[in-house]
Amino acid sequence: MEPEFWLGRWREGRIGFHEGRPNTYLERHAAHLGPPGCVLVPLCGKTEDLAWLAARGHEVIGVELAEDAGRAFFAEHGLVPTETPAGAFLRLAAGGVAILVGDVFALAASDVTGVTAFYDRAALIALMPAQRARYVALLRKLLPGSPGLLVTIEYDGTLMAPPPHPVTEPDVRKLYQGVRVAEIDDGPAVNARLAELGASAHERCFALTL
Ligand SMILES: C[S@@+](CC[C@H](N)C(=O)[O-])C[C@H]1O[C@@H](n2cnc3c(N)ncnc32)[C@H](O)[C@@H]1O
Repeated sequence: MEPEFWLGRWREGRIGFHEGRPNTYLERHAAHLGPPGCVLVPLCGKTEDLAWLAARGHEVIGVELAEDAGRAFFAEHGLVPTETPAGAFLRLAAGGVAILVGDVFALAASDVTGVTAFYDRAALIALMPAQRARYVALLRKLLPGSPGLLVTIEYDGTLMAPPPHPVTEPDVRKLYQGVRVAEIDDGPAVNARLAELGASAHERCFALTL
């Protein structure tokens, strides 16, 4: 989607994707991310997962287009972030969490120095299909050998306009060809728009090693 799409969603508070609590798959499978290190969370919004990872001893680097989202995360956790320009980003940081405000595609190696793992919930599925290969190539270039968790959603894409964009298991395997990919969990997904249509969606959680 165009940046203005997401900035508008945050301005207007249309953030149905925000779970407001740590993600179930992250809680169940965080061990795959390894011992306390530094976890990259692309397209992070203001997810509680940032705080959850920090509370378990990880340094956390989120990347988020909407400054409103980054500021909301710190405000909602009673933190006043330091603000520093960092390459293509504005870096907001406090409490073991740094949020790089800007476009994920501007990430450079210097932005992810020390990163040991990544966590993708509602990032791949938020990107337009045409952007996916570039996004995966970027992660693979920046974080070779790193473990990651990926949470995707599958539903009948003819039923409603994305996002989220449905991403199937074969899509994941094709995108991450040459990478160790294991589907480790799955379950029903909560999506209010689909529920209104009487339809359902399915989530899958993958453990990856880039
Ligand atoms: C579906 S939301 C998911 C947020 C978060 N991962 C969560 O689980 O709540 C996708 C987020 O990605 C952000 N976003 C979209 N395109 C982006 C880009 N190119 N670079 C950085 N952030 C982006 C949006 O502003 C939005 O907050």
